[in-house]
Amino acid sequence: MSTEFHSEHSSASAPKIIVAIDGPAGAGKSTIARHLARHFGLLNLETGAMYRAFALKALRAALSLDESSALERLAGETIIHLVPTSGENRVFLDGEDVTGELRNAAVTDAASRVSVFPVIRAWMVRLQQQMGSAGGVVMEGRDIGTVVFPHADVKIFLDAAPEVRGMRRFEQMGAHTERQPDEVILELRERDKRDRNRADSPLKPAEDAVVLDSTDMTLAEAVKVAERLVEARLA
Ligand code: DC
Repeated sequence: MSTEFHSEHSSASAPKIIVAIDGPAGAGKSTIARHLARHFGLLNLETGAMYRAFALKALRAALSLDESSALERLAGETIIHLVPTSGENRVFLDGEDVTGELRNAAVTDAASRVSVFPVIRAWMVRLQQQMGSAGGVVMEGRDIGTVVFPHADVKIFLDAAPEVRGMRRFEQMGAHTERQPDEVILELRERDKRDRNRADSPLKPAEDAVVLDSTDMTLAEAVKVAERLVEARLA
């Protein structure tokens, strides 16, 4: 049960702050995290990619996604290697670059399922804490401000109405997708429900998080607000 962490280091002059960005799927976390990373010279760490990589392994092993003990055994023989950059993260599963396989519907659903188990979460949280402890990072996920880094310097909880998030996801899929918008919105609602209602570390804003609802904003506007929040912390 390990994850190696090799990184391009954040730039030497980068502030050693920790920026936590949490929120439901499709709220724009990745767009904002990527921008903040570039703008402030921080490392961008996408924690969802780690859950996705483990979910891919569970799917390949044809494991039942409801059985904690089998998943725990599998986790014991898994090495996830995250290579953060200022752009997209690359993810290696037992040495294989699986970055291109992590975004399909089956892995997306499986990631939400395996992430309900405390033993899997404890493993991931430990690794995420190791990765971010030196600072100079923007880390996005569901529980960064509440569990992984409760003392993060900046905490943003990004939200938007499910219909808006679903349409953003649909548009990202491009003109050739065979999916229908309604289908995408429905899946997103189901995943939200699971992420928000799980017993261990449910998705919710930390008490001291700034809640940023981008329902009536463009993502570019939300990016600007997030940028100002980090600037204010640095000032
Ligand atoms: O951010 P994402 O869509 O790549 O995340 C995939 C799933 O992983 C999400 O449905 C819930 C889980 N996850 C989590 O439980 N905690 C995190 N910090 C990140 C993701």
